[in-house]
Amino acid sequence: MTADTSLFAQAQVWLDEDWARMEKTLGHRLEAFRGKRILVTGAAGFLGFGFLNFFAYLNRNSLKNGRLSVVAADNYIRGRPRWLSELVAASSDMQVVRQDITKPWTDSAGDRFDFIIHGASIASPKVYRQYPLETLETNISGLRNMLELAKSYRSESILYFSSSEIYGDPPADEIPTNETYRGNVSCIGPRACYDESKRLGETLCYLYYHQHGVPAKIVRPFNNFGPGLRLADGRVLPDFCRDILADRDIVLRSDGNPTRTFCYVSDALTGYLLALLSSHHAEPFNVGSESPEISMRDLARMLLEVAGSRRQVIHKPSEEADYLTDNPNRRCPNLAKSRALLGYAPLVDLRFGLGRMLGWYKQFVSLEELAKDELVG
Ligand SMILES: NC(=O)c1ccc[n+]([C@@H]2O[C@H](COP(=O)([O-])OP(=O)(O)OC[C@H]3O[C@@H](n4cnc5c(N)ncnc54)[C@H](O)[C@@H]3O)[C@@H](O)[C@H]2O)c1
Repeated sequence: MTADTSLFAQAQVWLDEDWARMEKTLGHRLEAFRGKRILVTGAAGFLGFGFLNFFAYLNRNSLKNGRLSVVAADNYIRGRPRWLSELVAASSDMQVVRQDITKPWTDSAGDRFDFIIHGASIASPKVYRQYPLETLETNISGLRNMLELAKSYRSESILYFSSSEIYGDPPADEIPTNETYRGNVSCIGPRACYDESKRLGETLCYLYYHQHGVPAKIVRPFNNFGPGLRLADGRVLPDFCRDILADRDIVLRSDGNPTRTFCYVSDALTGYLLALLSSHHAEPFNVGSESPEISMRDLARMLLEVAGSRRQVIHKPSEEADYLTDNPNRRCPNLAKSRALLGYAPLVDLRFGLGRMLGWYKQFVSLEELAKDELVG
């Protein structure tokens, strides 16, 4: 973190604005968390950052007279981020445990979890290519362990993060893609370990609900971004931000034509909590933004504009031979079901969110850390 306390204070104000927006949208539903114990797996990751900070915010605000408690579990395969150590040190309601979810659960306190937010996975394509079998194991055995935990604790709800990747590369008439589309995914190839195990994860949730009554909820995230996404993650937006922070041209690894929509983290977390707190068991919900559907080239240009940079967008193919194999050409959600059944509605504009993300990096990542490529403390 930079030594500049005014920048730190500004970042806190921005984050609190995000959490306040979520608190307002979720409203009375948040009462369900009053005094409850929540397990967050994958707590050291990007969405873990959002959930933990939001829960800490609730404990300082609307739940201050009925604080929730959080067990933050992760195997810290890529280190324990500094923000997590600082957050836990500042909050008596948060406990960190080192837990590989593919191994038997070892919670020394042993109390039940009222809610389980199960985010542990290997989510970055750069990383799951390196660890394909670990990815399968985490997405299948790890999820099964978490469903067993929810079953034995009779948890009120468990949230499973599937992925928009399970749609693979849909034909044009299936874009925007709704939940009834069954996918066009290869069961072999460099992305298969992630895509296929996420698909099987949905089946596991379906079976645990129908056979054991486990109230499993399924969301299909579409490209989330914002503060908390580690700079060295390998996903497209942190890569672009890294180029900007290092004041160099933005490097495109594809021809720049594939399109995506991007969903700011406070909108995405709102959608996930709406699903967790709903009564829609074992059926999938898309969570993302419908627009703009933007090409990688235009996204890079937009980020340069937001940053006020005069640098260019350049094309340089990856040295990894199969970097683009099975990379979907277009991805865009149809949100009609999530809007109708969950009351989900994304609010944050892409340009605004990009500014927040860049600002967060600028304030929390020193040049030294940028050079080291790490945020680990
Ligand atoms: N962020 C997105 O845009 C997005 C899109 C689609 C799906 N998802 C899914 O949402 C969930 C959270 O995503 P994220 O962006 O926070 O990912 P992330 O990679 O930032 O965080 C995942 C965390 O899980 C941990 N983990 C991995 N294997 C583990 C294991 N065996 N035991 C314990 N911890 C383990 C990692 O250490 C990491 O801290 C994942 O399931 C991901 O697949 C996210």
